[in-house]
Amino acid sequence: MKILIVGGGGREHAIAWKAAQSPKVEKIYCAPGNAGIAQVAECVDIGVMDFDRLVAFAREKEVDLTVVAPDDPLAAGAVDAFEAAGLRAFGPRKNAAVLEGSKAFSKDLMKKYGIPTAGYETFDSPEAALAYLETAALPIVLKADGLALGKGVLICNTLDEAREGVRTLMMDKQFGAAGNRIVIEEFLTGREVSVLSFVDGKSIKVMASAQDHKRAKDGDKGLNTGGMGTFSPSPFYTEEVDRFCRKNIYQPTVDAMRAEGREFKGVIFFGLMLTPEGPKVLEYNARFGDPEAQVVLPRMKNDLVDVFEACIDGTLDQVELEFADDAAVCVVLASAGYPEHYEKGYEISGLEKFAGTDGYYVFHAGSKFGPNGKIVTNGGRVLGVTAVGADLKEARANAYQAAGWVEFGNKYMRRDIGKAIDEA
Ligand code: AMP
Ligand code: GLY
Repeated sequence: MKILIVGGGGREHAIAWKAAQSPKVEKIYCAPGNAGIAQVAECVDIGVMDFDRLVAFAREKEVDLTVVAPDDPLAAGAVDAFEAAGLRAFGPRKNAAVLEGSKAFSKDLMKKYGIPTAGYETFDSPEAALAYLETAALPIVLKADGLALGKGVLICNTLDEAREGVRTLMMDKQFGAAGNRIVIEEFLTGREVSVLSFVDGKSIKVMASAQDHKRAKDGDKGLNTGGMGTFSPSPFYTEEVDRFCRKNIYQPTVDAMRAEGREFKGVIFFGLMLTPEGPKVLEYNARFGDPEAQVVLPRMKNDLVDVFEACIDGTLDQVELEFADDAAVCVVLASAGYPEHYEKGYEISGLEKFAGTDGYYVFHAGSKFGPNGKIVTNGGRVLGVTAVGADLKEARANAYQAAGWVEFGNKYMRRDIGKAIDEA
């Protein structure tokens, strides 16, 4: 089989690495890919939103299966474009990717089908939103309706902050059209857990749980980022929580999408808050998380391509997902200054130390080949260093050890990825 992966970050590297282990796969292309993905795939210089060229490329190379990994092309209908050309693609169609693409849609869906989530109201005008705030309880959460690189969520502790937030999202349009409509919701407390799942339209198979660290600095300080590190499994995701979520959240979400005529095929990522009243959905994503994929996929025993195909063919009920009884931790090595201003183009050394090691992986998020053929930094998040271990503590020690094997200019990482493990 020939596979095309659309995307070019750490998540796509993990997907490509895992797909490459399938005996069925003879060739992997990645658009646009990066210098790390180039070890397992042929990278082609086509942007993730350039559907015409992606489809033409898949046709020309007789690609058997395209995997669309990032949120933007999914929300814009990349899978529909491949299907319209008679090509197989993994991921939700546009009418299902709205589960992530519109917070107002997902909140209304949860309300209609009784799926536990924070109470909320939706607003199309800043005046109405500001009026609502006057009597709302604090803290309060403001969310841009549309995709905003994971940064369209504001947690406001005071009325002034909340007023300012409405202005930022709806009037100054910091996230563009994503802020034309906002959701204002109740602030929830508890542990956050990420649960990724495969869905074939009817059935759902849940992967191992994980936890992300979204803030840039230690102690969950600093700005929200795409994610600075992850661990899997989450010790807070107990059997009781799992039972509750299977009954009240996972299958009900799949059934709700089907009932709405928006059959979902692909990956649903449940962002959960384990509140004192039980688990509630914070958000849905319509794709693998990044860097959740970098800890979940190394623990997965199945042939990833088989599972992708079962999702497309509607035969997921016949698949038994299997995960190793171990743990994994991913530490993101970023460029200092991320997510704001940072420099790129520094040579990365030490990558060869991962060759031949068992249970240590370096997934490239932002790297490219420099003029002299050396690999240089090319993004805010540069590398994701993942290590497995018998348990979370061992995996964390291994990951931090391996994070020291690589060096580059302005290298920055959080030192407390997985610290919550000690409180479990
Ligand atoms: P989201 O993009 O919706 O996952 O929001 C980003 C982050 O904001 C989440 O990972 C939470 O840490 C936080 N967050 C979102 N919604 C709420 C809420 N209702 N209560 C408390 N924190 C929230
Ligand atoms: N790491 C969070 C996300 O991928 O949205």
